[in-house]
Amino acid sequence: MRAIILKEVGAPENLVLADVPVPEIAPNEVLIKVKAISINPVDAYVRRTQAALDYVYRYQGTEPHIILGWDVAGIVTEAGSEVPRFKAGDEVFGNFKFVGQANAYAEYVAAPETEVVLKPAHVSFEHAAAATMAAMTAWQSLVNVGKIQKGDKVIIHGASGGVGHYAVQLAKHFGAYVIGVASEANRDFVMGLGADEFIDYRSQQFEALVTDADIVHDAVWSEDDKHLERSLKALKPGGTLLSLVIYPDQPFIDHAKAEKNVDVRRVNVTPNETYQHDLAYVAGLLATGEMKSHVSHVFPLEEMHKAHTIVQTKNTVGKVIVVP
Ligand SMILES: NC(=O)c1ccc[n+]([C@@H]2O[C@H](COP(=O)([O-])OP(=O)(O)OC[C@H]3O[C@@H](n4cnc5c(N)ncnc54)[C@H](OP(=O)(O)O)[C@@H]3O)[C@@H](O)[C@H]2O)c1
Repeated sequence: MRAIILKEVGAPENLVLADVPVPEIAPNEVLIKVKAISINPVDAYVRRTQAALDYVYRYQGTEPHIILGWDVAGIVTEAGSEVPRFKAGDEVFGNFKFVGQANAYAEYVAAPETEVVLKPAHVSFEHAAAATMAAMTAWQSLVNVGKIQKGDKVIIHGASGGVGHYAVQLAKHFGAYVIGVASEANRDFVMGLGADEFIDYRSQQFEALVTDADIVHDAVWSEDDKHLERSLKALKPGGTLLSLVIYPDQPFIDHAKAEKNVDVRRVNVTPNETYQHDLAYVAGLLATGEMKSHVSHVFPLEEMHKAHTIVQTKNTVGKVIVVP
């Protein structure tokens, strides 16, 4: 089969097409003929960072190639002997084996049956593949960890991006008042997702405009942690800061906790015990159209490097998809 292998850590051009064997499935896995692959910032990070790549491949067995990727939609062609849920012909999607070795940049992939769900019939493979890691990160942040409630005032940083555009829609689904933060050029996009207010981070200081948020969903990395510190200022006493990018162990966090009694949580998307149930809920929202994936670019498999070049800008609108 065709796959994209990483020749060595480095530039997007190190991702090259190769011919590799179709994977064998374990008894609890399904073999998926991949129809669409979603690309995330972490893919680009692992591609260019040796320590991260070593971590992903720490349990490497006999796999001779480095194949990145975790998010796919496709068609089941074979089900393992211990798989009751799926059969050949089922259309599925999911994010799996994160943050281990999933080998998703390929025409076929072996996925644990507990980490994929049925794709709604009228949702395209591209739109389903998009709603995997990014959508589940938004879900786990706002729902599992943040315990979002109807009427909560919620700030979504990076509201135009992969995670953020799902976070806005999920927060609205759960009845929150949503303030989306992104670049002015993406104002209409974010408001179109259902946001109640928009803040342009390039010209406005969000913490000067909002100081009573129940939840701040912070997906913005800054070298000096200043962004996290600013997000704390936007919280009301007793509010919750959900950080996707920085571990909350800095002194200013202890200070904010003591002063404002806020909860500060680091969120790492993970296949937890409710993962499949939650992804099925996401599938339901996609099926009814209450939540939509925005796909800004679609590339053929051999142009994976172009997808990485866009995603690593950290200014992606919605999601970037690759089709084998
Ligand atoms: N912890 C986890 O489990 C987990 C999971 C997934 C992602 N992440 C991390 O979360 C971050 C977002 O992921 P993503 O997939 O959504 O990335 P993305 O698709 O690249 O989107 C990033 C968004 O951030 C916005 N942005 C950039 N600087 C900003 C700022 N100063 N203030 C507010 N918004 C800003 C951009 O908006 P404009 O383009 O409009 O400027 C862009 O839409 C990444 O760092 C990613 O690695 C963590």
